[in-house]
Amino acid sequence: MKKRIKKEINVPSDKSITHRALLLSSISKGKSQIFNPLISEDTKRTINLVKELGAKVDIDANKWVVTPPKSFNFDFDFYSGNSGTTTRISSGLLASIDGHFTILGDASLSQRPMKRIIEPLSEMGAKISCENYKLPMTIIGGNLRGIDYWLKIPSAQVKSSIMFAALRATGKTTIRGAINSRNHTEIMFKNSGVDIEINDNYIEITPSLPTSLNYRIPGDFSSAAYFIAMGLISKKVDLIIKSVNLNKTRTGMFQVLEKMNAKFEIKNFKNDIEPIGDIVPVFSNMINLKNIDENLIPFMIDEIPILVLIQSQSEGRVIFKNLSELRRKETDRINALVQNFEKIGVKIEELNDGFIVEGPQEIKGGEINSFNDHRISMTFAIAGLISKEGIKIKNSNCVDVSFPNFFEIIKGFFS
Ligand code: S3P
Repeated sequence: MKKRIKKEINVPSDKSITHRALLLSSISKGKSQIFNPLISEDTKRTINLVKELGAKVDIDANKWVVTPPKSFNFDFDFYSGNSGTTTRISSGLLASIDGHFTILGDASLSQRPMKRIIEPLSEMGAKISCENYKLPMTIIGGNLRGIDYWLKIPSAQVKSSIMFAALRATGKTTIRGAINSRNHTEIMFKNSGVDIEINDNYIEITPSLPTSLNYRIPGDFSSAAYFIAMGLISKKVDLIIKSVNLNKTRTGMFQVLEKMNAKFEIKNFKNDIEPIGDIVPVFSNMINLKNIDENLIPFMIDEIPILVLIQSQSEGRVIFKNLSELRRKETDRINALVQNFEKIGVKIEELNDGFIVEGPQEIKGGEINSFNDHRISMTFAIAGLISKEGIKIKNSNCVDVSFPNFFEIIKGFFS
């Protein structure tokens, strides 16, 4: 029998936190330092945006120094590429600036819904025009007023968009409703001296000038998730995934995996601004849950594709529902997963808002389409590693939006 491969790996820095750190430091008091940021196609869009606004970004390999502008540029068009986070969160910031801004995106981003941010930002006083609530979208910003807003979708992008707008509005803004989603903006605002109250029922922000940031960005749990899966379902590797962000609003997948009898350990846990630790996944015989608690979904929304792969390798049948948001990601992920799994010999039943997965199923292999979605590409790369005949991925390089060295790490296992 072949020897197991033992590897210690680092995954790229957290994408969500990198976007937020750039945006907040472009409107804060004085120079900010962002250590260990993520350099990827999506975060480059946010760098371009803050530069368009007039901020200076000095890029050193492991450190960015951001100097906010004395006054903002107030009239520009901006290309957001594939990045939903850049678009939605920066819209809140742009809505608070007296100016005229047009955001454009690639084919996928131009299909994604913007009504969810247009509604609250318009209520605050921004004038936003677009067709069918899709990009391109023009924002005429400035003179915002605080609002009391009931959030219907548990979306951190929408919550953060309103929070950024609230910083420079007149009067307090209160956000209620579906506020339980990743809380990086809340943590960063608190850490930057923003006047913010957070409790189970609402988030309340009083307009504030944030202090400059001094932020070290940990590894991205969503990127680590592919290697957690690999460690759990592949007998070939023993992995240690170093310095990953373990914020509980991101690690919902762990709660599901624990109940599925997955074995993993956390080592070197420490509480920095956000909690971090090393993750050691161990090959496990897992059992599918009958259902998945829907309250956990916002805390693992980006991990659903890789979790479906894990479920296809676990014993028993799971009904996975309340996932309609997956149809509105970089591609319709429900459709992309069902179609692609079928192509590699795995049957997953499609529901309007989810899947029925029965396992364990052998993965034969074949050719799949990433639909230009990084998370689809990475999920099927991991599936390829345990498949009988291998998987060929069309347009696999879309991983560059969040994990540019993904395939290099995998190649490193076998060299
Ligand atoms: C993100 C929030 C999530 C997630 C996305 C990043 C963020 O989107 O899917 O990849 O950084 O706030 P939603 O807010 O649309 O759920």
